[in-house]
Amino acid sequence: MSANATQHTLLPQELIRLKRDNQSLPAEEIKAFVQGIADDRISDAQIGAFTMAVFLNGMSREEVVALTTATRDSGHVMQWSDLNLPGPIVDKHSTGGVGDLVSLVLGPWVAACGAFVPMISGRGLGHTGGTLDKLESIPGYDPYPAPERFREVVKSTGVAIIGQTGDLAPADKRIYGVRDVTATVESIPLITASILGKKLASGLDALVMDVKVGSGAFMPTPEKSRELAKSIANVATQAGTPTTALLTDMSQPLAPCAGNAVEIVETLALLRGDRPNSRVMQVTRELAVEMLIAGKLAGSREEALTQLEKALTSGAAAEVFARMVRELGGPSDFMERSEHYLAKAEVIKPVYAEQSGVVQRIDTRAVGMSVVELGGGRLRNDASVDHSVGFTDIVEIGEHVDSQRPIAMVHARSEAAAERAAEQLRAAFTIGEGTASADTLLQDTFRGEAL
Ligand code: URA
Repeated sequence: MSANATQHTLLPQELIRLKRDNQSLPAEEIKAFVQGIADDRISDAQIGAFTMAVFLNGMSREEVVALTTATRDSGHVMQWSDLNLPGPIVDKHSTGGVGDLVSLVLGPWVAACGAFVPMISGRGLGHTGGTLDKLESIPGYDPYPAPERFREVVKSTGVAIIGQTGDLAPADKRIYGVRDVTATVESIPLITASILGKKLASGLDALVMDVKVGSGAFMPTPEKSRELAKSIANVATQAGTPTTALLTDMSQPLAPCAGNAVEIVETLALLRGDRPNSRVMQVTRELAVEMLIAGKLAGSREEALTQLEKALTSGAAAEVFARMVRELGGPSDFMERSEHYLAKAEVIKPVYAEQSGVVQRIDTRAVGMSVVELGGGRLRNDASVDHSVGFTDIVEIGEHVDSQRPIAMVHARSEAAAERAAEQLRAAFTIGEGTASADTLLQDTFRGEAL
């Protein structure tokens, strides 16, 4: 035991008692407690009592920073300085959504502008799609390369999107597991430390966070989304990683498709420069601007936009994506022959609304759950995913639908599955008379401030 460790005198139950009684916790004590979680010296019961005490009494900014850095340091923290990379290490994280393929376009796009992006992504969670599940639609793509290989790909390509390995922030794995079964997930301090503990373990110079708001958002209300965005930007910045959080609309699917292979098809089109002003590209561009500025690759928004435009229209961003796929085991001609490689559903058919009219509202969460039920996500965490299923050609709020214009195309394994999904989709769309307009896409920007 190190000399430092012997200075921590609080027993776990004493630390829990302090938080239970709404006292503040010293950073060193939080650090020792989290290390105890990673080392299995703290029991699940103690974690549960601690998370409930935090849930009920909250935490100060200093406490959340201490919980975040302790979570980050509970496992391996990546270092990049020995590679002498000629650009900043930057990344983005999102609270997740439906049709949210932002990471797939953003990573290669900013890498094509000179950034290095070691992106650790997740699988689908609840109604939200997972970047890893989408990438695994590509035959051969290996989302779990050895750590040295990951570093090599980031160095040679500028971006590698992979899955989380067990040695990254292991304390969070235990804490999150206990929160899940003790009704303590919905706590801003705990969510902040959980997300950032993992994200900051990849050794970033800057981070951009996309916090969603609306019917498909992880947070239940706009106020809570806003609170989380502020908390993440400030805590990460105070922990030493300059961070900006954008509040973006998820009151309808972001891209006009939701699923796995179907979102890869859309990603390729966007990287080729099709639909540069679509909603998903607008959000991606805003995040990219923040990343280039935070990473000091651009001095202003105008400069960042010019670089991004060039990287897209020259084909450089698409080329980076193709190289990442190739380096991580996918086909070398994926961009040219993607339709040859991506799985196609047995049944592809239009879904019509029961009445004609204008789309007024979309229950985005229900659209995501319908993709899960089609087989595109998981009902159990050990289940496999059907990459071929989902929806495409999803109409937006304010668009007119009738007997000629479907709400979407459903991609399913069978007629019966298509029919069930069609029913669910119809129920998720509110069609009415009169005009309707979508919520503002970029609702707010929070630049982190250290105290
Ligand atoms: N995602 C995380 O990684 N942690 C949370 O607490 C919530 C969402």
